[in-house]
Amino acid sequence: MQLCVALDLEEKIQNLELLESLKGFPIWIKVGLRSYIRDGKEFIEKIREIDGNFKIFLDLKLYDIPNTMADAAFECAKLNVDMITLHASSGEIAMKTVMERLNKIQKRPLVFAISALTSFSPQEFKYIYNMPLDEHVQTLAKLAFKSNLDGVVCSVYESENIKKNTDSRFLTLTPGIRPFSEDSDDQKRVSDIEGAKKALSDFIVIGRPIYKADNPKKVVERILEKIR
Ligand code: C5P
Repeated sequence: MQLCVALDLEEKIQNLELLESLKGFPIWIKVGLRSYIRDGKEFIEKIREIDGNFKIFLDLKLYDIPNTMADAAFECAKLNVDMITLHASSGEIAMKTVMERLNKIQKRPLVFAISALTSFSPQEFKYIYNMPLDEHVQTLAKLAFKSNLDGVVCSVYESENIKKNTDSRFLTLTPGIRPFSEDSDDQKRVSDIEGAKKALSDFIVIGRPIYKADNPKKVVERILEKIR
């Protein structure tokens, strides 16, 4: 299991300070909407300057018509990032079009499909989509598998079943992790690291419990110990 640290801080300088303090750890750095919209592709370069061994996960959660998604995914790949995300609900044609485009390039990023955001409770999900969350996550995961993606973003509670319903090598990435009983904030389907391990998560994403801590480096050390 690998750790992705979400860089969602208010100021670029704060993200940079956090990165400096995490230099040398074998981790993934997740650049999401806030940081990318504010600091753009120069920021991706900056991460590499700080530590060339950091793996970079650009989490822009693409959702659009197939051609627009493939264009956007191709632009992400040109940044040489290691992982990107799109919404599984964009459909099979969109996901296949993205993969066809990315498979033409020499080194493409891993592509993960968002199923149901970890901030959705089953009740809220049902209200919006008129479908049971668990069932729909499995349907979306199967669709992403069939469309040749590398894995799915889901909660710990769906991870093991996704592997049963697709393939044990189909990757799961689980946000909503609270390693030491921290506040769940806006996340609804949360778990700790033990839960993520049991659920066979390949990647866990952790933001606030790390960057809001007094000593983020210490928290990352403790998380990595737990992962081992
Ligand atoms: O601060 P916290 O640990 O809740 O951060 C979780 C991170 O994972 C955020 O950057 C959020 O955008 C991201 N994420 C998520 N749920 C998803 C996909 C991504 O929480 N389904």
